[in-house]
Amino acid sequence: MCSRDFLRAKVEGRKLSMVTCYDYTFARLLSRSAIEGILVGDSAAMVMHGCPSTLSASVELMRVHTEAVARGAGDKFIVADMPFLSFRKGPAEALDSARILMIAGAHAVKLEGVDGHEDVIQRMVQSGIPVMGHLGLQPQSIHAYGGFRVQGRSNDSARDIVRQATALEALGAFAIVLECVPANLAQEITNTLRIPTIGIGAGAGCDGQILVLQDLLGLNMEFRPKFARPFLDGARCVLDTLARFDEAVKAGTFPAGEESYS
Ligand code: KIV
Repeated sequence: MCSRDFLRAKVEGRKLSMVTCYDYTFARLLSRSAIEGILVGDSAAMVMHGCPSTLSASVELMRVHTEAVARGAGDKFIVADMPFLSFRKGPAEALDSARILMIAGAHAVKLEGVDGHEDVIQRMVQSGIPVMGHLGLQPQSIHAYGGFRVQGRSNDSARDIVRQATALEALGAFAIVLECVPANLAQEITNTLRIPTIGIGAGAGCDGQILVLQDLLGLNMEFRPKFARPFLDGARCVLDTLARFDEAVKAGTFPAGEESYS
């Protein structure tokens, strides 16, 4: 898989599936799946480190997680998130940060938004770095929105997201994540663009879907956003398994003879 295969999938009408991943163990499992792409998301700050938002993710944090994923991901296509402000200080600093993530094992980078960093996107694309866009709810801007809110509900806001999507395609992005926008808006953008849209909370009309791995495995008992279907009751599985281990230890049935050295 490479960035051009995303375009090919759209031309051929094949849906794309992506998940986030932040560590080696899950990357090994994903390497055995049919999922097309892995996003080392800046959601690592929240999911792996318990931060309240993605603003705490740094280039160094993203480098460490990208390296771990790349060690386990086999030939899966890996996109790494450019963290908060890392692409807003001009092309030179942005390219330096992207270089760190690409050397860590990413095959592409994802940047939220477009306005004000068109030059950065263009320079990256011209330098051979595939760029994925991210529109709609941009978690790095939650303080401007006043929280994690659905975007594009008003006509003006919807028009603006369509404008940004068109601009991203013109700048050379190979795909765009659409997060938390009404399904009809995502469908319109998907129909308008040549490049694929990857939805999260953006309805079924996108060219592909992405979920946070821990959400689709049902591992987070406190946070169940409307759009994140848990395909497994992972939290229950883990808790039941821990209870079985605890009982076995306390009953003296673990370890058994065959689990001990003579
Ligand atoms: O960081 C992340 O997990 C993301 C997804 C929500 C697309 O950007």
